[in-house]
Amino acid sequence: MRTECLPADREGITKAADILAEGGLVAFPTETVYGLGANALSVEAVRRIFEAKGRPADNPLIVHVTDKEAASACGEWNGLADLLADAFWPGPLTLIVKRKAVIPAEVSAGLETVALRSPSHPSARELLRVCGMPIAAPSANRSGRPSPTTARHVLDDLDGLIPLVLDGGSCDVGLESTVADVTGEVPLILRPGAVTLEMIAMVAGECRISDSVMRELKKDEAAPSPGMRHRHYAPRAQLTLVKGSPEKVCELIRQLAEKSEKTWVLAPEDRVKYYRGLNTHSLGGDAKETAHRLFHLLRQADEERVEHILSETLTSDGLGLAVMNRLARAANFHILDADGKASQND
Ligand code: TXA
Ligand code: MG
Repeated sequence: MRTECLPADREGITKAADILAEGGLVAFPTETVYGLGANALSVEAVRRIFEAKGRPADNPLIVHVTDKEAASACGEWNGLADLLADAFWPGPLTLIVKRKAVIPAEVSAGLETVALRSPSHPSARELLRVCGMPIAAPSANRSGRPSPTTARHVLDDLDGLIPLVLDGGSCDVGLESTVADVTGEVPLILRPGAVTLEMIAMVAGECRISDSVMRELKKDEAAPSPGMRHRHYAPRAQLTLVKGSPEKVCELIRQLAEKSEKTWVLAPEDRVKYYRGLNTHSLGGDAKETAHRLFHLLRQADEERVEHILSETLTSDGLGLAVMNRLARAANFHILDADGKASQND
């Protein structure tokens, strides 16, 4: 199959809507990462997503909708969903509610619930408007690879496997949406993102976070969100995170970096200077910048055939929690403590 890449303008969006109406797949930009869309009401169309991505059938998809009215046609809407949608939609927040029968079980990998999100990216919104149907869309990467934040990234993974990519430039946020289960009394975050725990708590009065977010699931442990079970965001290079007091972190990273030539160091902007002489890349000046560039950096490391990536850690408050969650997962929870030299996963 030849993959066309068109600007996300009126012509591109019209063509994309036609493909979706025929049951085909289209990659499109959102404010978080690029999505791989299909008609959420069609079992055949949805199956194509799993095939193109090589995605395990037990990992459910997010359904994209224009607004809460469209959302309430797909899931059992409730007061908490309404409150959070009013505060954060359109935007990078996915709400999990009970699934209605119009949404095929395949979309939710057989779960009784459905994940719903109204994206704010103008091209995504226009596509939803023109095609007039809910769009099921996971991130537009091959399963297990870092999510794509440019059309180029999508092509790197899916060229020849899908008919069309809409190019809308680089995604603003750079990390996937916050996923919050709102079927209970208190919102429960299953995946942190740009709508932070603090922001949700301000609106809902309370917000909990699944304790599996920042650690590896045990072998037989039930996953609150199936995505936790699968290796995610992973570059081919081996990523190691080093935490601890700043001087010790620097010392240990330098020591480890000397062992191999094809090693990259990742550090916050103001710390890059401590790694002179090493192949060091900046994580940016704050969590927002890190979020924006993280997946791009991980993909670039693969292109340059880097073997090891050594990264400093960031503080886990606000958006920092989402950044640390993606870093920890990309590292397969391989985290060294420079002060104690103990690691979580060795
Ligand atoms: O920002 C985003 O959310 C992007 C853009 C394209 O919207 N999409 C995205 O989709 O990241 P995906 O499929 O890569 O991640 C969806 C996550 C997975 O971890 C999945 O397990 C979880 O949401 N999920 C989906 N439906 C669920 C459900 N019913 N219950 C629990 N977790 C669910
Ligand atoms: Mg994904």
